Amino acid sequence: MERIKVCELLNKDAGIEVQVKGWVRTKRGNKNIAFVALNDGSTVNNIQIVFDMNNFTEDQLKDVTTGACICVEGSLVASVGSGQKVEIHAGSLLVYGTASPETYPLQKKGHSLEFLREIGHLRPRTNTFGCVLRIRHAMAFAIHKFFNDKGFFYLHTPLITASDAEGAGAMFQVTTLDLNNVPKSADGKVDYSSDFFGKATNLTVSGQLEGELGALALGQIYTFGPTFRAENSNTPRHLSEFWMIEPEMAFYEIKDNMDLAEEFIKYLVQYALDNCADDLKFLNDMFDKELIERLRSVVDTQFVRLPYTEGVEILMKSGQKFEYPVSWGTDLQSEHERYLVEKHFKKPVILTDYPKDIKAFYMKQNDDGRTVRAMDVLFPKIGEIIGGSQREESLEKLESRIKELNMGTESLWWYIDTRRFGSAPHSGFGLGFERLLLFVTGMANIRDVIPFPRSPKNAEF
Ligand code: 4AD
Ligand code: MG
Repeated sequence: MERIKVCELLNKDAGIEVQVKGWVRTKRGNKNIAFVALNDGSTVNNIQIVFDMNNFTEDQLKDVTTGACICVEGSLVASVGSGQKVEIHAGSLLVYGTASPETYPLQKKGHSLEFLREIGHLRPRTNTFGCVLRIRHAMAFAIHKFFNDKGFFYLHTPLITASDAEGAGAMFQVTTLDLNNVPKSADGKVDYSSDFFGKATNLTVSGQLEGELGALALGQIYTFGPTFRAENSNTPRHLSEFWMIEPEMAFYEIKDNMDLAEEFIKYLVQYALDNCADDLKFLNDMFDKELIERLRSVVDTQFVRLPYTEGVEILMKSGQKFEYPVSWGTDLQSEHERYLVEKHFKKPVILTDYPKDIKAFYMKQNDDGRTVRAMDVLFPKIGEIIGGSQREESLEKLESRIKELNMGTESLWWYIDTRRFGSAPHSGFGLGFERLLLFVTGMANIRDVIPFPRSPKNAEF
């Protein structure tokens, strides 16, 4: 007999013989009858299996405990009590793997998320993480679908890079040098010529710079891969290894960039509402009673678009006590971003035209000489979910900005070359995948929306 997944079984009509495989969530009953709730990960819902103890011995069922993996064959019958349309009346049972009630950590329901982080190898077996991981998959799929349908090309940018110029954050070094015996040159500095790549290399903080090369050849590209940042920021919104989606478009100006970002996020949220209903309902009921309502409201609202300068004026006039004081020129903290989104406008905000000194070198300079054509998309509960900009396409302006910032150009010559040969107006942005998932799942900590989180002092599972 062929195994049928629980998600399919629950939609079948009674009257057939079936085989199901999965992990026991609970077992209850008495000496005449036993009820087992079985989950196989295909859905948050369980299938109930009924064991008539006239056909099974106590000994046969003793290993069917919470966490055990079993295979059952039996008849699918209409259910009266299980809360589902159908249940299985067991004919045969095979136990694949036991889980001792004395040592299996996931006995009861309702473990704290903190505790579950300590058993990262088992937490995918909980309802909560099942929901999160299925939604994560659906969002990844929807991202590729969105761009593919628009004729964007998926560009694979490198994870190991020799350019450290993006300035997006501290980097993890990649080396095969013997750290106990590092080769030095005459001036006492590390001699990277004998390192693997013959130069110093790092894990990338962003695929953007290479993404621009793609956009200036293929027109419209996107990247979707892991990025790495070695800042010591232990917050519920930062990871050391996170996934980013970075579209980059030739001939897009800042307004086109904003339009795309807004359409993109709304598409993803609508996709989740349409395709992840059971999982969202579970998370809504268990963690965040306003989740589904919040998702619906984002799809229906027009995002506010506002220059940074006006945003700062609103914050300064707000009378609100912030932990970090705000004035023109300061980088906004998430408390500021969330004030604008949650208290002032009560909807997502796209903030534009930031001071050039708090943004990256590649952003297009405005005529005022002090702002650049940046755009950050700010979201309720999250703060910044997207960062992007129109890019500086003028060779002269780009080079003078690089000089102004005292950046070395040796490792960036290839980037600068794009402004020398067939330069074009172009724009792009980066969506933090886990920040998106925080919003869509309603989870509060970014470590709970990635299967195996990496953060300072944390790389166990
Ligand atoms: O604003 P960021 O640093 O922008 C860039 O990296 C640009 N190269 C993007 C581009 O224009 N192509 O990062 C983009 C997004 C942020 O808005 C945030 O959602 C997310 O990446 N992000 C993080 N997510 C989790 N943990 C971290 N440490 C993050 N840092 C940024
Ligand atoms: Mg940013």
